[in-house]
Amino acid sequence: MIGRLNHVAIAVPDLDAAAAQYRDTLGAQVGAPQDEPDHGVTVVFIELPNTKIELLYPLGDNSPISAFLEKNPSGGMHHVCYEVEDILEARDHLKAQGARVLGDGEPKIGAHGKPVLFLHPKDFTGTLVELEQV
Ligand code: CO
Repeated sequence: MIGRLNHVAIAVPDLDAAAAQYRDTLGAQVGAPQDEPDHGVTVVFIELPNTKIELLYPLGDNSPISAFLEKNPSGGMHHVCYEVEDILEARDHLKAQGARVLGDGEPKIGAHGKPVLFLHPKDFTGTLVELEQV
């Protein structure tokens, strides 16, 4: 059911420093910061030949990244995103398998303008999983 790895998201305590590290130390192609107010994050997209890295930094008062950074002050991997062809079909299949979908279970429009859902990390070996319809 899942397809390509769309991105790995990393929460960072200092967005400029992390972007500079990917650009200068790792030699990656790093984009400009983009505010995503609906998701409570500022994102920097890093294009790799086979996938993307998204650096996440809190935006606003109720950012889902704030608590993560309190627990992981130096930052850390926040989620992985897999592509699916039909997000509603994927959701219904996962729910039938006993997996928990976060929020109200309805897809939201994600950072790439496409429908996304998140799955409970406790159901996926401690990893928050995002599904994105492509
Ligand atoms: Co994501």
